[in-house]
Amino acid sequence: MNINQLKVIKKWFHAYVEDITPDNDKLIHLIRLKYDHSLHVAENSRLIAEGMKWLKSDINVAEALGLLHDVGRFSQVVEYRTFYDPDSINHGERGFKVVGESGILSALPQNEQMKILDGIKFHNLITIPQYVNSARLRFVKLIRDADKLDIYRIIYDTVKTKIFEEHPEIFLNIDFDGPINPAALAQILNKETVSYRNVKSFKDFCLNQLSWMYDINYSLTFRLISEREIFKKVTAILPEDNGVQKAVRSVHAYMKKEGKG
Ligand SMILES: [Fe+2]
Repeated sequence: MNINQLKVIKKWFHAYVEDITPDNDKLIHLIRLKYDHSLHVAENSRLIAEGMKWLKSDINVAEALGLLHDVGRFSQVVEYRTFYDPDSINHGERGFKVVGESGILSALPQNEQMKILDGIKFHNLITIPQYVNSARLRFVKLIRDADKLDIYRIIYDTVKTKIFEEHPEIFLNIDFDGPINPAALAQILNKETVSYRNVKSFKDFCLNQLSWMYDINYSLTFRLISEREIFKKVTAILPEDNGVQKAVRSVHAYMKKEGKG
């Protein structure tokens, strides 16, 4: 992908979002949040790909993927009024369909199209399916890292400002004052990603977020986490709970051991 092809995709994305936005203040606001997220993830994707010294064409593909990864979110919120996938649609699959049907990638070589389409489709799965083609796998890994980096930014801002209602898909059904779920604590201490089914309270949610560090793919991403002081900032706003603090120490030890902390 050359820089002009990237520009065409950017232009399409902006026009798509503008076209789909209805005249409704609440939806305008929700769409704006995802639009901003898309721009941040595009930037993160580019930074990670550049940091890993990928080919120029692959760096452009990475940026396009970052921009488009959540494109399914826009029609999801317009049609279903929610970003919560279990009550509506899988937004990764929806994005795959939207981009495929738009024809916006058709000028690109087939392998580049598939890097973007697979990246969109698999960015939001709990784990990456084994069958993902290895040439595309590094893009799937990259988008998952770039996305997490920005979700940490959103969560930090949300917890700090306490405007939880803006992100119902993140904080839905959470008991803000509830105790820690021993199953969630056991998972994180076992170096596993905490399952959503074990997230009942805000403390469990915090453990879930911390456990994402075990699902970061590239050390370059850890470098950005460290440069942006993400781990430090996120842990500073966590509840003062023995279980949470124990999990923080365990994750931090892992990051240090991996030379990533
Ligand atoms: Fe997403």
